[in-house]
Amino acid sequence: MINEKFVSESKTIMTEMIMPNDTNPLGNLMGGNLMRWMDIAGAICAGKHCNSHVVTVSVDHISFNKAVNLGDVITLEAFVTRAFNSSLEVVLNVFRSDIKGIIREKTNSAFLSFVSIDDETKKPAKVPKVVPQTEEEIRLYEGASRRREIRLILSEKIKPEEAIEVRDYFGKMSS
Ligand SMILES: CC(C)(COP(=O)(O)OP(=O)(O)OC[C@H]1O[C@@H](n2cnc3c(N)ncnc32)[C@H](O)[C@@H]1OP(=O)(O)O)[C@@H](O)C(=O)NCCC(=O)NCCS
Repeated sequence: MINEKFVSESKTIMTEMIMPNDTNPLGNLMGGNLMRWMDIAGAICAGKHCNSHVVTVSVDHISFNKAVNLGDVITLEAFVTRAFNSSLEVVLNVFRSDIKGIIREKTNSAFLSFVSIDDETKKPAKVPKVVPQTEEEIRLYEGASRRREIRLILSEKIKPEEAIEVRDYFGKMSS
């Protein structure tokens, strides 16, 4: 297994045009269809980073800031922020534009976590580390351990008192 990889090596961009069967009764993109595409783009990105099959283990808060209309084009951009032991965090940013490509605005974002699965044992497998390079990559890398602790608390995998990074972060904010 490769020990470490650059973020750019697995960055994934997926484009879809919103067709009638993607919409809700108001004629906008149905949220569930967008979530499906986010999961697919995230899994492709995570799979490229790990060179393995991956499963989605958690999806953080997704906000729907702007409606996406029938005929719009959406671009989903996914990149790995940080890898841990067998899991990794991927950030998804979604942009809408019209077919002419004139308007471009961010409509959604979310962090998705995936676990690499070994082909033979079907158990979680070790993943390559991430080497962040750009300012944005470094910022997201640095916050990733804290976000991981929060999602492990919410899924009752760890107790709040075990979340050292979260405690230090909020301790600093309140002092
Ligand atoms: C993901 C799965 C393999 C993890 O198995 P597990 O027995 O809980 O394994 P572990 O406890 O060793 O956890 C494996 C990793 O997942 C992480 N993890 C577990 N639950 C998590 C959660 N809710 N959020 C984020 N990460 C989580 C652990 O922290 C660990 O990461 P690390 O190795 O980087 O430290 C198992 O829960 C599973 O198969 N879930 C179903 C996945 C699925 O069907 N997804 C939808 C279809 S793709």
